[in-house]
Amino acid sequence: MQVITAHHKIQTHIQEAKTSGKTIGFVPTMGALHEGHASLVNYASKDCALVVVSIFVNPTQFNNASDLETYPRTLDADVAFLNALSKDIIIYAPSAKEVYGDNISSDEYNFGELENVMEGAHRPGHFDGVGTVLNKLFRQINPDRAYFGEKDFQQLAIVKRLVKKERLSVEIIGCPIYRENNGLAMSSRNARLTPKQLTVAPFIYKTLKEVKKRFHKDSASVLKDFVQRKFSEIESLELEYFEIANAQNLQPLSRKRSETKYRAFLAVYAGEVRLIDNIALN
Ligand code: PAF
Repeated sequence: MQVITAHHKIQTHIQEAKTSGKTIGFVPTMGALHEGHASLVNYASKDCALVVVSIFVNPTQFNNASDLETYPRTLDADVAFLNALSKDIIIYAPSAKEVYGDNISSDEYNFGELENVMEGAHRPGHFDGVGTVLNKLFRQINPDRAYFGEKDFQQLAIVKRLVKKERLSVEIIGCPIYRENNGLAMSSRNARLTPKQLTVAPFIYKTLKEVKKRFHKDSASVLKDFVQRKFSEIESLELEYFEIANAQNLQPLSRKRSETKYRAFLAVYAGEVRLIDNIALN
């Protein structure tokens, strides 16, 4: 297991691996690793001879200073976690200077219709920050494939668009949401939930499954009312948004079309902790 912190070192290492014919799989993370990340690493290991996992809490994608401050940073535990998964992983854990140089700021992208809904609407500047850091990391690592969880479904769509816009040669692979046995989507933010919040949070997925069950008969507005009512009955969870959207362009559903795939998306606060989740509806 190697932990590399300098971008010129990771570049040399990867160049050597590529010259010897190895395919490079990349799993970008912000650390605080959990089984969801392990599943991404496993997908990457199946497809690629060398897997690089980056651990970097990207300052430019946080639109809330206290969220950035309290984001869990657990590098030693993350290294041990990956080491137990496979000895062949390379960890890239750069400083902000290695990634950004002296200018820690976002580039301005135009991700079109994808960026003004849901996460984009509620977290101004977030996707510019994600696009900026991934553009830099993709150029430093030059992977053949990169793996992203569908929990951040909108991020996955944005990353695909970024790759097209920047004409990068990496293939973006979306991987299924990894859940606890009780249905709670795995997230680094779950580490910040209190024991009481942890017992209530599975309500999120339970409600999404209920929406899926009703989707064939109810309109989007009936389902929105249903979800708002459900969450209003749970004191410790506050619904930020619930949306049913076209899975391709993420635009809110107005009239159902039989050939179109839809997903339900939501963001919820459990105290200070913001959780997101989504589900395929058809
Ligand atoms: O999903 C995340 O953890 C982050 O948004 C990512 C993709 C690592 C970029 O910082």
